[in-house]
Amino acid sequence: MTDKKIIYLDNNATTAVDPEVFEAMRPYFCELYGNPSSIHTFGGQVMHDINNARTQLANLLGAGHQNDKGEHTEVIFTSCGTESDSAAIWSALQVCPKKHKVVMSKVEHPAVLNLGYELERRGYPVSYIPVDSHGRLDMERLEEAVDDDTAVVSIMWANNETGNVYPVEKCAEIAHRYGALFHTDAVQAVGKIPMNLSESPIDMLSLSGHKLHAPKGVGALYVKRGIRFRPYLVGGHQEKGRRAGTENVPYMVALGKAAEVAGRYLDDENTRVKALRDRLEAGIAERVPKIRINGDMDSRLPNTASISFEFIEGESILMLMDRLGICASSGSACTTGSLEPSHVLRAMGLPYTAAHGTIRFSLSRFNTEQEIDFVIEHLPPIIDRLRQISPYWNN
Ligand SMILES: Cc1ncc(COP(=O)(O)O)c(C=O)c1O
Repeated sequence: MTDKKIIYLDNNATTAVDPEVFEAMRPYFCELYGNPSSIHTFGGQVMHDINNARTQLANLLGAGHQNDKGEHTEVIFTSCGTESDSAAIWSALQVCPKKHKVVMSKVEHPAVLNLGYELERRGYPVSYIPVDSHGRLDMERLEEAVDDDTAVVSIMWANNETGNVYPVEKCAEIAHRYGALFHTDAVQAVGKIPMNLSESPIDMLSLSGHKLHAPKGVGALYVKRGIRFRPYLVGGHQEKGRRAGTENVPYMVALGKAAEVAGRYLDDENTRVKALRDRLEAGIAERVPKIRINGDMDSRLPNTASISFEFIEGESILMLMDRLGICASSGSACTTGSLEPSHVLRAMGLPYTAAHGTIRFSLSRFNTEQEIDFVIEHLPPIIDRLRQISPYWNN
């Protein structure tokens, strides 16, 4: 590692653990290491702290229900967003055995999309709802796709690449009209936009710790009170029999703390972070010709900017920014050595010349105006340089 300063604008990939969160989890390694299932007080204390974390998370989600012991039982801790997504969709198929169909959007994260492909291989019918050129969901096609055979509709709350925020409550209402359950992958939305699940028709919601300044390797699944649920991991009685396996106590405590802190910064996210994102977009648009800002300008996360720089390769931009310590992401799948544009940009029908030059900047509360101004100053010459050597630009 060099001591070069990093400008980290890749927060939709993962976030730094907040020092306050790290301090909260620290005692659970060497001091409070008891097993929460143990009968002794030492373990009991840990169980109490897990339930406190559950309450902190429930508060961020606006999930109000408590059992007679005051526990927010709608929140189940898991190992990650991917596990939560799989657990929700599999459960829906198990609790509605007479229904077989799954409906999702074409722009879901691979955690949901690849599960859709796997379900198809196992004989389940799966419908993939298209989006328009701004990445907005085709609600008419959704209405047409959901039917009496649909077990579950799964539509992400916010897209990881464009930041588009989807009308999940309307989608849930459509699902319910046909007796289907509604699940949302809210991995990118939790902590960035306000939520009040107790007033919402959403049945199940997935989230992930490492997108909101908790460590990697912890997530949660919200299952609304009264919604039947079959566990994905079967074994011990942990999480009230809904997710077996000895609890990852430090990480659960961290996720609870991260949720509490995220709640405190929600206004900041939607004002200061949003203003930084808007400053970045406007600064680049002023200095660089032939760009497009992708996504639904009326319904986007406050922290995400997806910008296509036409006629050049996103990977080259990333490499040159990397030399300056700027971290961002490209819109390419980068799988098996090919640089195919991502499924999200393809679903939006972005022209080849724009899709290949797409960069995602994703901010957090730890970014500063100086960092944004550094990017606004140093990115335009990079784009100019790459365009000068691009055969497409010069034609
Ligand atoms: C929208 C979305 N869903 C699911 C995931 C997967 O979450 P995890 O990395 O915790 O498995 C991600 C991670 O990038 C994501 O952005």
